[in-house]
Amino acid sequence: MRKFQQRVFSGVQPTGTLHLGNYLGAIKNFVDLQNKFECVYCVVDQHAITVDQDPHKLRSSIIEVLASFIACGVDYKNQIIFQQSSVPAHSQLAWIFNCVSRIGWLNRMTQFKDKAGKNKENVSVGLMVYPNLMAADILAYQATHVPVGDDQKQHLELSRDIAQKFNNDFGVDFFPQPEPLIYGEATRVMSLRDGTKKMSKSDASELSRVLLTDSNDAIATKLKKAKSDSDLIPDSVELLKEKAECLNLINILSATMNQSQEKTLQEFAGREYSILKNKLAESLIEVLGPIREEIENLLNNKDELNKILAIGTEKAEEIANPILREVYKIVGFR
Ligand code: TRP
Repeated sequence: MRKFQQRVFSGVQPTGTLHLGNYLGAIKNFVDLQNKFECVYCVVDQHAITVDQDPHKLRSSIIEVLASFIACGVDYKNQIIFQQSSVPAHSQLAWIFNCVSRIGWLNRMTQFKDKAGKNKENVSVGLMVYPNLMAADILAYQATHVPVGDDQKQHLELSRDIAQKFNNDFGVDFFPQPEPLIYGEATRVMSLRDGTKKMSKSDASELSRVLLTDSNDAIATKLKKAKSDSDLIPDSVELLKEKAECLNLINILSATMNQSQEKTLQEFAGREYSILKNKLAESLIEVLGPIREEIENLLNNKDELNKILAIGTEKAEEIANPILREVYKIVGFR
């Protein structure tokens, strides 16, 4: 395999306000990676419409995700931030991948099975071919590294399979095998109400998640009401693993403070939950407060945000269009 230039690609869906899980599991890592790699970050609106979306809400979510990226420190001047549907190369490459990928592969995707449930005949075709579009997102930039939450690992495996089958089918060495980058103490932030469920924007309880736009009071209240028990905080990682809610709070604090799980546990072992919760509320307010204010500022200047998107589109196309042209030649379109 030839040596590909190292490049990071990742995407976030514009469906509702981003929460702590998106921040610690994704965006915070995006920011760290900027020092080491050329990075391309995408608001994946085409993935969002694989399930029904209200058009007005979709538009405002796209702008809100962009503002959140920037407020969290994504460097839009030196890196690339843009909107998926503005760069047609994604859908064009996705069509070719629809013809490379196999129905059997897609049928094995656990996220599709979970989302379709018993309704398999009645969900959109888009939901099924979602991973092919994701492969196109990544490979339109010949990206080598993809920061994702661990729920996306299987989709990334599929991207690797598609890249390899394309290379084999056409006898070329054209697409890299993109590597997942999964790290941090809190790549999986769980619900504050149920430590066995992922923190999610679709959870019925608002208390289950901390939003990037939550006021300091809201953050404090949500942590006070976070589920816990009447025991003291365990003193070993083994015992901690048996207490999903406590593990989650310890992980969130570790990620927020950039320290190891062991170190955080040492600090709180044998103490009451309320002490941990107070400390966590305090550090979240410290980290998220300035982000919330910056999001508000940015959203007051939508013209500027639209300009940033337009520049991002241009920079993204500079990379993706020549790659797509090569693909068109390889498959015989040109
Ligand atoms: N499927 C990803 C998610 O829901 C979002 C996504 C779309 C993505 N395209 C991508 C992530 C490409 C990484 C690379 O989280």
